[in-house]
Amino acid sequence: MNRNKRYYKNSKVVDRYSRLDGLQGPEQAFLDMYRERLTGLRLLDLGVGGGRTTLPFCSHAGEYVGVDYSQEMVHACNRRYRDLPNAMFEVGDARSLPQFPDGHFGAVLFSYNGIDEVPAEDRRRVLDEMHRLLAPSGVFFFSSHNLNFMSRLFAASFWSGPRRYLMLRAINRGRRPLGQDFGLFDDGWQNLRFRMDTYYISPQHQFKQLQEAGFDGIRAFSVESGREYEGLEDLRSSVEPWIYYLCTRP
Ligand SMILES: C[S@@+](CC[C@H](N)C(=O)[O-])C[C@H]1O[C@@H](n2cnc3c(N)ncnc32)[C@H](O)[C@@H]1O
Repeated sequence: MNRNKRYYKNSKVVDRYSRLDGLQGPEQAFLDMYRERLTGLRLLDLGVGGGRTTLPFCSHAGEYVGVDYSQEMVHACNRRYRDLPNAMFEVGDARSLPQFPDGHFGAVLFSYNGIDEVPAEDRRRVLDEMHRLLAPSGVFFFSSHNLNFMSRLFAASFWSGPRRYLMLRAINRGRRPLGQDFGLFDDGWQNLRFRMDTYYISPQHQFKQLQEAGFDGIRAFSVESGREYEGLEDLRSSVEPWIYYLCTRP
């Protein structure tokens, strides 16, 4: 088992995620945009964690399926949402979900950067699987860490104290993907414990990956303000920690 998965099976982590609620700005914007359409749809909430997004989306979707590769997270959701008639929770891995047939879902949500915990070499498998699971005109909405944030993270940790900065540098020595569009970092966000490998990608490269996997109508939203970016030029100057992407399976 890789260390990311081990992290999400930890009881303290499960407990923390189970107490989260409230939507991030772009999630609320997505819900507002698709509220009417969701009523008749099956929605997959992938990497559902402790169910932060369950109630708002479940109450609008025709059918709601929460999936996570951590059995402990799925148990927590089952405990938290015993009485929701149109919701079910299952253990499954985003890289391969053979329990669902082609075109089974009208919308897939992979919120709060869950896709960035997948090993880099398997990221394309996830995108292909989402494409397979979506019906024509189905939408995929997810967030991913922004490679352009790295310089801001190093600067912020420098000013927050030498210990954090030096640890961040030491742990990530040799990881900076010079001249590339993505890389794995241990950003130490989890209380300086440095327990996860997290994928960071430039917005331009994220657009390219989605196009190569067959998605179109790609849009991007700011996690900090919720506003929609006006295309790749606008995104180029973004240094926020992660970005939400919305795209369509033609
Ligand atoms: C940062 S948490 C977000 C949880 C929840 N979506 C939220 O917004 O609070 C990421 C979640 O994705 C799950 N996850 C990571 N990789 C996964 C994979 N390959 N398949 C299914 N779930 C995965 C983790 O177990 C974790 O619960």
